[in-house]
Amino acid sequence: MSNLEKFFNRCTQIVDEELDKLIPPAATEPARLYEAVRWSLFAGGKRFRPALVLAVGTAFGAGENKLVRFASAIEMIHTYSLIHDDLPAMDDDRLRRGRATCHIKFDEATAILAGDILQTLAFQAIADDQDLSEKVRVKLISELANSAAKMVAGQQLDLDGEGKKISLEDLEKIHHNKTGAMISAAARSGAIIAGANESELNSVTNYASKLGLLFQITDDLLDITQSTEVLGKTAGKDERAEKATYPSIYGIEETRELAEKVHAEAVEELNDLEKPVEILREIAGFILRRKS
Ligand code: IPE
Ligand code: IPE
Ligand code: MG
Ligand code: MG
Ligand code: MG
Repeated sequence: MSNLEKFFNRCTQIVDEELDKLIPPAATEPARLYEAVRWSLFAGGKRFRPALVLAVGTAFGAGENKLVRFASAIEMIHTYSLIHDDLPAMDDDRLRRGRATCHIKFDEATAILAGDILQTLAFQAIADDQDLSEKVRVKLISELANSAAKMVAGQQLDLDGEGKKISLEDLEKIHHNKTGAMISAAARSGAIIAGANESELNSVTNYASKLGLLFQITDDLLDITQSTEVLGKTAGKDERAEKATYPSIYGIEETRELAEKVHAEAVEELNDLEKPVEILREIAGFILRRKS
């Protein structure tokens, strides 16, 4: 097992333990709601955003105890975004993380409410984090609220773009908002918790911005090139929904080249940092080459 795999496994373990403490047990009334939340949350996601919080935070010297709560909160927001993204009114998907989507397993109203409560619980978890000063907690809440708002705006732009020929500039805007913003929040928050200075935060922001774009480019590529079984979500959906994606404009080969270029730019942003950031280079490589 590579060091990166070990790192991801460790992140998944500590974040899942924390999430289990933060989310009321499935038997809590109304049980249908908490069962639905747990169905979507504990379904084997990659836990990429939490891993990024932990990777940046530890590279800048913060202890795991200060990072794990925020890492779990950002996963709650991410999972809420997936539950809503899969609804019939949005991408209308039946499979997520290798199992039935929340609205298929339960029903639409429950899926909407499961997303809503995940969002609320995420902000409460940060507000109540006794391992962080009140000042840092407020900064993190602001950071996450801002990025989650961008994610929502990006989702609107994504839906508005269906069936349309849009400019590359507009496509990049969709990707930066719907996916990049939450990935930036993960990286930046790790640095904020660790007390990084302005110039360090700047480099982390630039790195994460490229990484976020890369993440959605590879998501769009995988939708075309990977199987439903490996993805754990229905492959080939973007074309059927006439989504605006890089492969739909450039084709697969040119999109792969673009992914290489954006990856190189992400890694370049790390060069000025006098911190042990090797793991952040490896993460960028992992996103470029990921298979799911
Ligand atoms: C999928 O995110 C949605 C996008 C922003 C592209 P992930 O690929 O991180 O999904 P999980 O969390 O591993 O299920
Ligand atoms: C979703 O992008 C981004 C979110 C904010 C959830 P996609 O619609 O491409 O994500 P998948 O492919 O369904 O995971
Ligand atoms: Mg979508
Ligand atoms: Mg989708
Ligand atoms: Mg997709």
